Amino acid sequence: MPVNPSFLERLVLLRLNKGPAPMLDLFGASSFRSVTLALEIGLFETIADVDRPLTAEDLADRLDAHPDGIAVFCNFLVSEGYLEAVGDRYRLTGMTEKWLLAESETNMGPWLTYWNDLVFPFWEQELETAIREGEPSQSIYEWFDEDPARWETAQEGFRATASLLVDDVVDSMTVPAGQSRLLDVGGGHGLYAMELCRRHPKLSATVFDYPGAIDAMEDDIPDELAGRLGTRTGDYWTDDLGEGYDMALLFNVVHAHSPAENTALFERVRDALAPGGRIVVLDQWEGSGRTPVSRAGLRFVALTYHTTLGANVYEHDEVSSWLQAAGFTGIQRQSVGPISGMAIVEATKQ
Ligand SMILES: C[S@@+](CC[C@H](N)C(=O)[O-])C[C@H]1O[C@@H](n2cnc3c(N)ncnc32)[C@H](O)[C@@H]1O
Repeated sequence: MPVNPSFLERLVLLRLNKGPAPMLDLFGASSFRSVTLALEIGLFETIADVDRPLTAEDLADRLDAHPDGIAVFCNFLVSEGYLEAVGDRYRLTGMTEKWLLAESETNMGPWLTYWNDLVFPFWEQELETAIREGEPSQSIYEWFDEDPARWETAQEGFRATASLLVDDVVDSMTVPAGQSRLLDVGGGHGLYAMELCRRHPKLSATVFDYPGAIDAMEDDIPDELAGRLGTRTGDYWTDDLGEGYDMALLFNVVHAHSPAENTALFERVRDALAPGGRIVVLDQWEGSGRTPVSRAGLRFVALTYHTTLGANVYEHDEVSSWLQAAGFTGIQRQSVGPISGMAIVEATKQ
């Protein structure tokens, strides 16, 4: 809902409760549906490609649409901050150029598409069950397995959020000098392992994930890294993770599991590390939302994890206690990136 209520509207709707504030959620939902459709039909890319404002007729021609439909659609997107009207023409706003164009390094489009195509349909199926029963009837990953195309869409979404964080995360990590081996547990799209290998020429990495996730990412391994970036498919609960690694990443993985499971997973990772090896855990941690948007962001994430995985957002102290229980020491935390509560926690195998 990028529409920003005026002072008077905030007063009437939010402070004095004189008007129906839930209407703002309705606008937000319509805005989300419209933006994801705009992405699907290529509206924003079409305007970006011609590099000048276009009329509804121009857009209708290029998108095989009706001019009246496009006009009413674009006018709504203007009021939501995605387009700007210039006379009877439309151009992109800075927000759309920065966050929703494929050429932008901060393109969040695949993340919105992931939500529209997969997460919200899954919510429709499972939200009530997760609330009544305490967990969904299946995890979203089991549901992805029913159709490999879902894994493609999911990995593109995960990659889009990872690309916002990757530089900060990689800058914050200490990588051993000399030849070293890294294991990226639940590494999915492999973006973090790829960037670490690019920056550290003596590092080699193995991305471990379910077969569906690895199938979706294998074609993306750049030729320059082909000799140093490998994959391993399996279930990290039951399959062999390998051994002798110097570093292991567990990025956006622990939120899917219970405290007892996380301790057990850290023990499995400890066994795969060489003595003195380091574990690096990245996630969003509870207790770090100090403003309304960051608090809402963390609770939104908690509801999502509960609905899709039967899981939760944890506190930093909890992850520290699981690491200690699994035999790690020297636990350090560092905030990373622009997303509320996101931090890496590093520790060393005793
Ligand atoms: C939220 S994604 C995170 C991807 C990537 N690490 C990142 O931070 O962007 C979680 C990943 O864990 C993988 N995963 C979950 N459970 C797994 C299991 N039991 N065995 C292997 N991979 C698993 C999922 O397939 C998915 O790719």
